[in-house]
Amino acid sequence: METSSSQVVVAPSILAADIGSLRREVESVEKAGADWLHVDVMDGSFVPPITFGANVVQSLRSSTSLFLDVHLMITEPERHFEAFKHAGADRLIVHQETCPHLYRSLTAISSLGMKNGVAINPGTPIEAIFDVLEVCDLVLVMTVNPGWGGQPFIPSSLGKIRQLAQRIATISTTGPIIEVDGGINHETAALCRVAGASAFVAGSYIFGAADRADAIKKVRG
Ligand code: DX5
Ligand code: ZN
Repeated sequence: METSSSQVVVAPSILAADIGSLRREVESVEKAGADWLHVDVMDGSFVPPITFGANVVQSLRSSTSLFLDVHLMITEPERHFEAFKHAGADRLIVHQETCPHLYRSLTAISSLGMKNGVAINPGTPIEAIFDVLEVCDLVLVMTVNPGWGGQPFIPSSLGKIRQLAQRIATISTTGPIIEVDGGINHETAALCRVAGASAFVAGSYIFGAADRADAIKKVRG
């Protein structure tokens, strides 16, 4: 289910799941209280690894009713919007760094009936997305450089989240949602929450936990 910008959302990233038992892994985090499922699509070009495509999203769609938050770490993402829509994605997140026509990319996702989002790398100034906030449902502030799970949280991300939250407060009371992704655990989630984030992606912290319900509860704060 889609939520408002004030509700806290926890989105386990299936990148850290046991892919051979994906259906069971999804059931496990759904039962443990996950709000969304985060799907990391990587193309071996924008980021070095290659992960999942629309066929995996389609398979997830047939096994869960969780909101599918699809993070496109791919060049020319527009070429794939329809395929991901057809597969059952609820949100497509594109990277600012891959979209020269970002406003158009975001509105194209909305026109297909999905929620949109824009992700921004640690090395990109947050001002780079200020001019698209009016057409944006979610901003994903990357708290690591995208490509791999299990990396340490980059502390300078906190200043970016604060800056973004302040900017959003001047233009709207309802959104966009601020999401964070990379190195999120109970401690870094708390720091991001104070800075203004309300949606938390966590891979290794949740899938690596002996008690996944407890891990989700701790990320939620
Ligand atoms: C990184 C991905 C993340 C990743 C996070 O490029 O976008 O979603 O799964 O993994 P953790 O939570 O282990 O840092
Ligand atoms: Zn991600």
